[in-house]
Amino acid sequence: MSVTFKALENILEHYPPSSEHLISALQDVQAKFNYLPPEAMTAVCDHLGVPLSRGWAVATFYKAFSLEPKGEHDVAVCLGTACHVRGAANVYEKFRRDLGIAGPEGTTRDLKFSLRQVRCLGCCSMAPVAQVDEEIHGNLSQRKAGHLLRMYRKR
Ligand code: FES
Repeated sequence: MSVTFKALENILEHYPPSSEHLISALQDVQAKFNYLPPEAMTAVCDHLGVPLSRGWAVATFYKAFSLEPKGEHDVAVCLGTACHVRGAANVYEKFRRDLGIAGPEGTTRDLKFSLRQVRCLGCCSMAPVAQVDEEIHGNLSQRKAGHLLRMYRKR
């Protein structure tokens, strides 16, 4: 999603020009664009009267903020021990292949999906497990992984 002046204006109009609103405004930008585009950071800091360096310091401190474009759907595949022994590497490879992601983690060109690895999602009895957005999917196989992507692609 590109950063539009109107979208930023809609966010900033909720906040009086004060540094105390920095985190809230950045959360809104993150929610709108799925990351913190540099031009949005500049606009937020200008509006609130906060030094740009402080904006970036906050953005890099909190894990909730992403400095890279993220996909609409977040696919977190568990490669923890229980999942590993039940074939998580093959499942992960299937996700990576189907999404066309070159490196170990990344985001699809159409910004539909981001793929990442995690260590234990706390539901080892359902191994191998992946979390897509807020939903946990267990007992995965390569076939189920392909099905999941098709399902989320339509959402
Ligand atoms: S190791 Fe995968 S959920 Fe625990």
